[in-house]
Amino acid sequence: MKFVRFIMKNASLASVPKHIEHFSKFSPSPLSMKQFLDFGSINACEKTSFAFLRQELPVRLSNIMKEINLLPNRLLTTASVQTVQSWYIQSLMEILEFLDKNPDDFKVLGEFVDALVTIRNRHNDVVPTMAQGIIEYKEAFPQDLVTNQNIQYFLDRFYMSRISIRMLINQHTLIFDGTLNPVHPNTIGSIDPQCEVGDVVQDAFHSAKMLCDQYYLRSPDLILQEMCNGPESIVYVPSHLYHMLFELFKNAMRATIETHDKSNTLPPIQVRVSLGDEDMSIKVSDKGGGVPFRRIENLFSYMFSTAPAPQIGEHTRPPLAGFGYGLPISRLYAQYFQGDLQLYSMEGHGTDAVIYLKALSTDSIERLPVYNKTTLKNYKVSQEVDDWCIPSKEPLDLKV
Ligand SMILES: Nc1ncnc2c1ncn2[C@@H]1O[C@H](COP(=O)(O)OP(=O)(O)OP(=O)(O)O)[C@@H](O)[C@H]1O
Ligand SMILES: [Mg+2]
Repeated sequence: MKFVRFIMKNASLASVPKHIEHFSKFSPSPLSMKQFLDFGSINACEKTSFAFLRQELPVRLSNIMKEINLLPNRLLTTASVQTVQSWYIQSLMEILEFLDKNPDDFKVLGEFVDALVTIRNRHNDVVPTMAQGIIEYKEAFPQDLVTNQNIQYFLDRFYMSRISIRMLINQHTLIFDGTLNPVHPNTIGSIDPQCEVGDVVQDAFHSAKMLCDQYYLRSPDLILQEMCNGPESIVYVPSHLYHMLFELFKNAMRATIETHDKSNTLPPIQVRVSLGDEDMSIKVSDKGGGVPFRRIENLFSYMFSTAPAPQIGEHTRPPLAGFGYGLPISRLYAQYFQGDLQLYSMEGHGTDAVIYLKALSTDSIERLPVYNKTTLKNYKVSQEVDDWCIPSKEPLDLKV
């Protein structure tokens, strides 16, 4: 029996490249916030969602799996990247099993929810495992500009794809597991149709403050200003917003404390929230000494991270600084629904970090990577000679 299972498993593994090839030919279908809400509204139809996901999840997985294969061989063959790749293959195979199942069968729908939960759990540690692969690669090989650019390009797209796949899985499992969210009964899956930004700011600040107090035995206060009169709300995923704000607050607190370590008082962190016709903007300002302009783009780089080697497992992470992935991943969350996250710093004074979100749910549409000819071309860029002069460090001898 074991032998038969072994043969079966290997036979299905052999067909993996064929499936990836097939599904990567389709473009992912970005959903709007409105479509997400419709999937979960009163007329929510589990059958429709099932039929959509059993096609869409293989498409999103296969598109990004094609890109994993374009990574430099020396990175692709690290144990960590191989592990991540095996998780993707396994999850793809598990979803494909539902392709020929009957959507009218309740048992099938139940099994699908269970399969999605298993897949979500399997992929919990993708970010630290991938980060480990990058570290192994950085330690073993000299870095060059083109490889760094390729890895940055890949990881932004890979993590964005992961955010989107988890969003689809979360929506389906939360909506169709048959229970109401007892704390937030109005949420639709993970979306709050009236997400009050000020409340999320307070929650994220409170959590960062607790960590900060534990680590430094002190923490700055919060000044929150909502620029309109009443509380401001948008249709959004509160957990995504919380993630971004928590990361920004940890950074702002650390910078504030380390810059004012000789002072008895700490300047507060100021947050301004403004809702316009097009944008919901949230500005987090600190007086933590700022960052030189030259370094700003590097703060979003996965390769330039100065953080110590990550340790896999929730409880082993240092409290206020970890992988150095806080900013790049937060920017992806903001960009996922067509927003952005930018840093404006004044070295010697402090930093403003601004989260831009779309004010209208009709503008909030998933931003998804697609594998095509342009993608291929982007991985093939070569290091060309700069078309701007490189200043010489030697003084120019004008006598000659
Ligand atoms: N508000 C800020 N003021 C000064 N420096 C900052 C600020 N925000 C970020 N930085 C600098 O940018 C670096 C990268 O920030 P990022 O949040 O991405 O990683 P990290 O804080 O080092 O680790 P992690 O967030 O993953 O725990 C920080 O280490 C810090 O040097
Ligand atoms: Mg950080």
